Amino acid sequence: MHLLFVVLACSTLALSAANEWGYPDLENNQDEPFPKWGGLCDSGKKQSPINLHVNGALKGEFDPLKFENYDEHQGSLQMVNNGHSIQISGFDHELTLSGGALGSDYVVEQIHMHWWSEHTINTIRYPLEVHIVHRNTIYPNITMAANFKDGITVLGVLYHVSNTPNEAIDSIIKSLGEIKAYEQQNVPVNVADSLAVDDLIPSVANYFTYAGSLTTPTCAEAVTWIVLTQTFPVTLAQVNEFKEIEYDQGKQLHNNYREIQSENNRAVVLVEQLQRAGAAQLSALGLSLTLLLCFAVQKINLL
Ligand SMILES: *[C@@H]1O[C@H](CO)[C@@H](O)[C@H](O)[C@H]1NC(C)=O
Ligand SMILES: [Zn+2]
Repeated sequence: MHLLFVVLACSTLALSAANEWGYPDLENNQDEPFPKWGGLCDSGKKQSPINLHVNGALKGEFDPLKFENYDEHQGSLQMVNNGHSIQISGFDHELTLSGGALGSDYVVEQIHMHWWSEHTINTIRYPLEVHIVHRNTIYPNITMAANFKDGITVLGVLYHVSNTPNEAIDSIIKSLGEIKAYEQQNVPVNVADSLAVDDLIPSVANYFTYAGSLTTPTCAEAVTWIVLTQTFPVTLAQVNEFKEIEYDQGKQLHNNYREIQSENNRAVVLVEQLQRAGAAQLSALGLSLTLLLCFAVQKINLL
């Protein structure tokens, strides 16, 4: 009888702990430590996020990444406050990512954001990071995919502070008011504006890629990370809108980024596609065209 009670009490405790994982409120107390989330989150050796060093990375060259249907306007997206982030799903078109170092096709499952960024580049943190979560199509669902090291690919997009509001982020913010309150948690609403996933992605020419994990419990080490080096502008006022969503009665989710994890000697690869050389050639061409034009103008003047 006593034993049964203890077992029941323990399992309830474990369950509520699993449901109530969260982030320290760094706005209220900058020194509040990141809590232990348990399991792989504490014991894993391939955890995310990490700091990405341009100088410490290995040089990589792969076929270009191939994006299918990312430019299609999604008319029936849904958005939910799940207490840890804002998550978007309900794509009318199957969005497929392949190529690069990926061994198979990956489809978009959901998009969510972190404020401030989880990854840092050269130890610099950004105000916002968007995660586009893809599942390897050889697995039937994301739960299954999380059991395999090639199960999930997350495309990470960092945003930098600017005076220019980001239009795509604005379309998301427009519907944010309906789900900010704790009472609305886990109740999906329609995203009023149509949005193409492309609108959230700057150039994909240059990126870091490495093997890591989900940055939320269970912290499954199933993720091929692709973090773009090119960032997108966002205003601090826009980011502040996200900070107003409630994770508990009267408690706002001021930040939802996980602390930096040990790299543990993992290979972090920096892929820089031909664009730079191309751009250099183009500007050289531009210069010679300008010179040519100058000569032409001078000749005309002489005539
Ligand atoms: C995922 O797929 C497996 C295998 O088909 C199935 O047993 C499981 O119930 C599915 N899980 C979810 C959450 O759909
Ligand atoms: Zn994430």
